[in-house]
Parts: sequence; structure tokens; C-alpha cells
Amino acid sequence: MRITVVGAGYVGLVSGACFADFGHQVTCVDKDVGKIRALKRGDMPIYEPGLLELVRSNAREGRLSFSTFLAGAVKRAEVVMIAVGTPSRRGDGCADLSYVYAVAREIAPRISGFTVVVVKSTVPVGTGDEVERIIREARPDADVAVVSNPEFLREGAAIRDFKHPDRIVIGCEDERARQVMAELYRPLYINAAPILGTRRRAAELIKYAANAFLATKITFINEIADLCEKLGADVQEVARGVGLDNRIGSKFLHAGPGFGGSCFPKDTVALVKIGQDNQAPLRIVETVVAVNDQRKRAMAGKVALALDGAVRGKTIGVIGLTFKPNTDDMREAPSIALITALQDMGGKVKAHDPIGMEQAKAALPDVIYCDSPYSCAENADALVIVTEWEQFRALDLGRLKQAMARPVLIDLRNIYRADELRKHGFRYLGVGKPPLEADSRPTELLRSAL
Ligand code: UDX
Repeated sequence: MRITVVGAGYVGLVSGACFADFGHQVTCVDKDVGKIRALKRGDMPIYEPGLLELVRSNAREGRLSFSTFLAGAVKRAEVVMIAVGTPSRRGDGCADLSYVYAVAREIAPRISGFTVVVVKSTVPVGTGDEVERIIREARPDADVAVVSNPEFLREGAAIRDFKHPDRIVIGCEDERARQVMAELYRPLYINAAPILGTRRRAAELIKYAANAFLATKITFINEIADLCEKLGADVQEVARGVGLDNRIGSKFLHAGPGFGGSCFPKDTVALVKIGQDNQAPLRIVETVVAVNDQRKRAMAGKVALALDGAVRGKTIGVIGLTFKPNTDDMREAPSIALITALQDMGGKVKAHDPIGMEQAKAALPDVIYCDSPYSCAENADALVIVTEWEQFRALDLGRLKQAMARPVLIDLRNIYRADELRKHGFRYLGVGKPPLEADSRPTELLRSAL
């Protein structure tokens, strides 16, 4: 099947490479000449495990190509996927659909033969209707169906998620288009991936509702973590006890510094807007957005606590800068708000990230960048783990302690055990853990709290 993917960003590139790997003939089109040139050379514009190899091998075997020319690529395609960005619009937080609509206008004159236009970008309910209207207005003669097929890829695990999805959602009301989509995803039937056929509007809403629900789950456990700290309970024990209930499930119950990334922050705000615009306010999601925003900066308070309130003049090492491991993406990363807050408090920040240092430099220029966690810890009064990279899970604690001016570790992802760190002579602070000195007497704390 011939597929043209418009937009060689995260979603477009991963989807294009994976469809090519299934055996389809894929052309990824992007306006960014530099990006297309780099892709043709086999260089990746983003870091995603496995993507480089997948792109190179499929390009070599002639199934994946890159172009800046939309016209020819659309004319030949049976499926045209719109995978351009829908960033938050400045001012009101609504998803900016100008790129999506611009693509619809551009592809309309080129469509030939029955063509399925698939909207993969995350878009508000009704966008598919508008894309269809734009195309039909420009080309009343075109034989076209517009489908919503949201992606649920996680950065850092995108290829695995694409090839082993929990579900594939296909929203359309056209039987021929449904058959084309079934053919497109046929290789995944073998992996028994459930394909859910819905109406187009439902598919559009599923994506937002799923992301908002996951963001709510994280925010819920983050607030429970705050409560744990007051009551002397351990949030990891609480999350495990809660998550073992099958109706709840254990995933996305890891307390931390707040969610970041390219999806949750943008999609929750956009969903809030959709709710308000349609007189169906989503008060839970509104609260999630507010709580999460405050949380990222509030993590600096934890660092201050570990330093007995004195951040001014102190050197703080921060390791893990990207919004999650296995990506170089700094968008809405909690490290940005945290580091800025520490600097506002008069602290000097050194930082290290295994992959995202270049991106971090753009977001956080006034930071001393170090090439390893140990050099980052050198002479630091405190070390903060913000992102749970595998590389940080088994640090040489002796070496770390020796390097630091004071052995203070603030672990915002709970990847270490408090008792172990304290045994090594560290002052240790996790998230949702009993307070520093109260480890052994949670019951007394509980009693006094009651
Ligand atoms: C998310 C969705 O998971 C994916 O389905 C959607 O298509 C795009 O958005 P992504 O943003 O790549 O994917 O990462 P994800 O693993 O979901 O993490 C998002 C944020 O939540 C990260 O900042 C992460 O650290 C945080 N998180 C996640 C937690 O704080 N606790 C958790 O338990 C899980």
C-alpha cells in the first residue's frame, strides 16, 4: 500500500518507519529542507531508541523515502496521513490547528483516485469534519474519506508501542475507508492488537480522554504522596496496594515531580478548553492542570528542606533533565521549573543528562553542564535526581559521597531506598516518603496527625 505521511516529526517519523517495516511503501514529506536532507543521509532529527536503525534499513530496502514535495507524493498515495504538530496556541491553550488545515488545503488539489486522509495529529473533536469540508470545498469531485486514527506512542518506547499497541482506534463512517485502514494495520492483527472502530468524533475524543485520564492518575498519586509525607506513610507501598486492584491497575501510579512532555501538558489544557467551549466544564482536568503546574516548581522546596532552608550560595547538582528517560525531549520537563526556582532562590546549578544536554542548553542557558553524574556531584551541596534514567539507578554511592561537598540526595523518582542511602551516610529525601527524621515512627506521626 502507498502511504504518504505529511510531517516528519515524532509521530510522522515513527509511524512512517513502522508502516514501511510492515512492507508498505512510505514517503515522509516535510517542509523543513534541512530535516529532509538529514533524513536522506540517515541522520535522525530526534532521539528515539531503535528509530535510526529502522529508518536506515527501510530506506535501504526502498520502502521508505523522504521528500519536501507534497504534490507527487499525494498523487500516488492511497493513504495520506496528516501528522503535523498541534501545539498549544499562545494565549488560550487551544490546540493550534493551522498546520493541519494548511495540509488539508495543500493536499486537496493533488488527490487522485480513492484516497483515505488519516488525521494522526492530536486534534479537537470536529477537526476531521473541518478537514473533510476543506478538501470537498476545494475538490468537489475528489473521492476521499477522512479518518481519525490517533496515536498513543510513548516517547522512548514509541516503536514498541507502535508494533504492540494496546489498541488501534479507527474513527470513520466510510466502509471503504475502514477496509483500507484494516489493510494498513493487517500486520498487527497477527499480534492480536485489538482494532476499535468508532465514529470519527469519538476517536478524536478518545485520545484526549485517555491522556487526561493518565495525567489525572499521576496527579492523584502525586497528591497522595504529599499526604504520605505528612502522615509518615510510603507512597510506593500505598500505590502498590491501590494498584493491585484490577479496576485501578498499577501503571501511572509513580509519584514524582509532575508530568511533562509534548502530550500531557498540551492535551490536558486543550481538553479543558474543549470542555469550556462546549459548556461541559471538565473540572477534574482543570484541577489536574493547575496542580501539576504548581508541583514542578514546588519541588525546589524539597531541595530547600534538605538543605535546611538555605539554598542561597549553595551548589546543587541536577541529574536527568529530559521530561522522561530515553528521549532528548525537554518540552515541559519538570527540570526546567525546578532549576529556575533553585536559581531564583540564589542557588548555583550544575546539571547532567545522558542524552538531552544539547536540548537542555537551549531551555536552561545559565547552568554548568557536566558530562557525568559524578562530575555533576563534584563539590555539590545537594544532588537531585529528576529523571529516572537507567544510568542513575546504580550509582557508585561511595564515589558520589566523596565527590560532594555534602552528601545530600533528593530523589524525585524514588529510584533509591531511603534506608540504604542513609546507611551510606547520605541525607536522603524521596517523594511521598516519611520525613527525614521520622522514618521509624510513622504511627506516632499518624496519631499526632489525627
Ligand atoms: C504520553 C502517553 O503515554 C501516550 O500514550 C501519548 O500518545 C503521548 O503522551 P509520553 O508523553 O511520551 O506519552 O510519556 P509517558 O510515559 O506517558 O509520561 C508522561 C509524563 O508523565 C512524564 O513526564 C513521566 O515522567 C510522567 N509520569 C508517567 C509520572 O510522573 N508517573 C507515572 O507513573 C507515569
